[in-house]
Amino acid sequence: MLVGAGLGYRRDLAEDFLQLPDNRTIQFMEVAPENWLKMGGLARYQFDQVAERIPLAVHGLSLSLGGQAPLDRELLQGIKTLMTQYNAHFFSEHLSYCECEGHLYDLLPMPFTDEAVKHTAQRIRDVQDFLGCRISLENTSYYLHSPTSTMNEVEFLNAIAQEADCGIHLDVNNIYVNGVNHNLLDPYLFIDNVDVSRVNYIHIAGHDEDHSATTPINESGESFNKVKGEFRHLPELLIDTHGEAVKGTVWDLLDYTYQRLPHIPPTLLERDFNFPPFSELCAEIQHIAELQRKYAK
Ligand SMILES: [Fe+2]
Repeated sequence: MLVGAGLGYRRDLAEDFLQLPDNRTIQFMEVAPENWLKMGGLARYQFDQVAERIPLAVHGLSLSLGGQAPLDRELLQGIKTLMTQYNAHFFSEHLSYCECEGHLYDLLPMPFTDEAVKHTAQRIRDVQDFLGCRISLENTSYYLHSPTSTMNEVEFLNAIAQEADCGIHLDVNNIYVNGVNHNLLDPYLFIDNVDVSRVNYIHIAGHDEDHSATTPINESGESFNKVKGEFRHLPELLIDTHGEAVKGTVWDLLDYTYQRLPHIPPTLLERDFNFPPFSELCAEIQHIAELQRKYAK
């Protein structure tokens, strides 16, 4: 069982992971199966050494749970094999799709509709049957809101999780980024309304501010937001990059989330590039651990 605070395992961080002491702050790590199913050589050797000491969560990128194409059975088999090989008991995927007559290599937004709830929930049930375990569904950052939506994002997430009887993997940075960019759902209201009984995993990450996306400024001091297609007071477009330190606003949202949850779930820092000294990543993970202790139930 995963507990505490974790960090995404990346090849660039292999040496740092290998040198972690036994009393480390990093209590688990996460990998994307797509990056490791066919990995060999030194990178695999180092990963195997680390995986002997640190519990593993598996987080998929391309199952396309909301997609139309049949589920990729070869990928599913690879995920199952990987989880068995490394004794991993947690798997999550994004609430999105990533194919349309071929792989699009991006996580695309779903329309928040009853039809999409039923469609996605059935595919999640199929995945759970295949893997023989409950999976968790992650809310994603998205940059286009479908006008056909009939519910808000958290209602959509809750409905699918209930219909599929799966866990909820909350990404608090994604909640914040979407809240600012779309101005449709306050991030704190999202947390107030999420089905906390299903939340069993959390992501936190850094985002970037794209000021170039919010020009020009009108005479009222409002800037033009390309996502909304209108002038607004919000000053910037936020991009979910995983390439920056976690912002204070997102730390505050994690603090609030922990207050609301009946149990403190394992929480992972996502950092995919632009790596700072490892000690800075450890300091962020230490901060997660401090918040977890503050709200330990
Ligand atoms: Fe995430």
